[in-house]
Amino acid sequence: MDTREFESRLEEATKIAGEAVLRHLPEEAGQQSRLTEAMNYSITAGGKRLRPILMLETYKMCGGCDGELIGFFMAAIEMIHTYSLVHDDLPAMDNDRYRRGRETTWYVYGDAMGILAGDGLLNYAFETALKAPEYCLKKDDITNEEKLEISGRIWRALSVLSRKAGIYGMIGGQAVDIMTQGREDEELLTETLLFIHEHKTAALIEAAMMTGAILAGAGERQIQEIEKCARNIGLAFQIQDDILDVTGDSRELGKSIGSDACNRKATYVNLKGLKQSGEDVEALSREAAAILDGFEGEHGFLQELILNLIYRRK
Ligand code: IPE
Ligand code: IPE
Ligand code: MG
Ligand code: MG
Ligand code: MG
Repeated sequence: MDTREFESRLEEATKIAGEAVLRHLPEEAGQQSRLTEAMNYSITAGGKRLRPILMLETYKMCGGCDGELIGFFMAAIEMIHTYSLVHDDLPAMDNDRYRRGRETTWYVYGDAMGILAGDGLLNYAFETALKAPEYCLKKDDITNEEKLEISGRIWRALSVLSRKAGIYGMIGGQAVDIMTQGREDEELLTETLLFIHEHKTAALIEAAMMTGAILAGAGERQIQEIEKCARNIGLAFQIQDDILDVTGDSRELGKSIGSDACNRKATYVNLKGLKQSGEDVEALSREAAAILDGFEGEHGFLQELILNLIYRRK
């Protein structure tokens, strides 16, 4: 796939992901409209939409073809991811004022509404994903047996999504990230830092790709391979995020830089240095892309996307 073709596929995928998210946003109405406005402020600010893109591409690769069904989950994962950013930026956490090219939610709406907007997005993510069973039961082009089969997949996708977003996933990673701020004990760091990166970032990428595979009806072995692939993508993604916090351009990134040093975070760059960090991003990404060779479905764009993330500047 040449660069032009890749860029146009990425643009198209980002558009589809963005539309799936917009379709499911809450209305800005009623007494609580300030809350829904704050939720929509952060999620409509953009972002790369990487998680819903990875979900959709994995779904298609594994044979999935119901755009509406996967749309509920694409919107849900982006809501969960966005809530994690809204809370991550709060003064009590990373205390950042700039995100997705805008002032952060708490900075515009205040701390209390920042907390509530994050809570709202997290809960609304599950409200949205939980519309999938009803959609499936109402379909008139499949048999009752197929409805039962797809309902089972939806249940399993929900269970993976909730676990990977929770205390054994993203929230767990964020907690250890906060607990280790200021720690400089080498021995503890290597193992702990891997735990942090694996949980705070890789877990949601695993959730995105695994739910895509599950909803498409992939087999156990395939789901396991997808989890491994996503783990590598997630680790590489967070290492690159640590690199960009040092070498990135705030305007290009659309978020604050130097935040990690300011908060005395344990980062991969502190642990291994810039050069080794870059090499590890590349090795992990190549490993992730190679796993997809074992899949029969079309995966050229997905592989190209994984490899392009090695050089991302935003
Ligand atoms: C930022 O995620 C937080 C991390 C997990 C590193 P992204 O870099 O995917 O943020 P957006 O969605 O593009 O804003
Ligand atoms: C955050 O990691 C990962 C989340 C779960 C939000 P960072 O704190 O490094 O993310 P950025 O750099 O603020 O986007
Ligand atoms: Mg953080
Ligand atoms: Mg942060
Ligand atoms: Mg960061």
